[in-house]
Amino acid sequence: MLICAGNQEVSMKKALLLAIIMLLTTTARAADNLNEGKQLLQDNCMGCHNAELDPPMGPPMFAVQKRYKMATSDRNDFINQLTVFTLHPSEDRAVMINAVELLGVMPDIGADEADVRKIAAYIHDTTFAPPCAHWQASIKAARARGDMRHAKKDQMMYNRMCK
Ligand code: HEC
Repeated sequence: MLICAGNQEVSMKKALLLAIIMLLTTTARAADNLNEGKQLLQDNCMGCHNAELDPPMGPPMFAVQKRYKMATSDRNDFINQLTVFTLHPSEDRAVMINAVELLGVMPDIGADEADVRKIAAYIHDTTFAPPCAHWQASIKAARARGDMRHAKKDQMMYNRMCK
């Protein structure tokens, strides 16, 4: 009886240890995927989505994340919708109507689906710094074309998050 109880304790400990190892491996794998997503975003998307560009060539990822979180119900939906748009950009699918008006629909860049899923997960999970330089460039561009509505909107964001 005693021996049996001892064995049970040993196997409990083993099971616990195994559970901890599995948890650590999963966490490490998730972190790896996020790092990969960050690098893929840098290599494939930032040529246009870099918030420092003046004039802007695409909406900053801060804005893409905010808009897609508003338009989707959860993390999976976010990843799916962002991936579908990136693989097949079209005016019908676009939710960033202002950006489409100003820059035209995003071109099809021939991205790889598995890569875009990792990028989308990273965009969902990360915290982007407010794109202050982008707002400044975009206020300047809106004023130059006499578009006071956009200038005001971006000025409000700038005042709220960058001052
Ligand atoms: C050649 C420039 C360019 C590159 C490279 C690019 N984009 Fe874009 N992207 C744009 C422009 C311009 C818009 C704004 C117009 C629009 O919304 O379609 C945009 C908008 C988007 C949107 C918002 C779409 C909507 O619903 O309106 C998403 C999401 C997006 N890009 C994802 C990506 C991802 C992910 C990558 C990299 C894999 C990428 N883009 C690379 C130019 C680019």
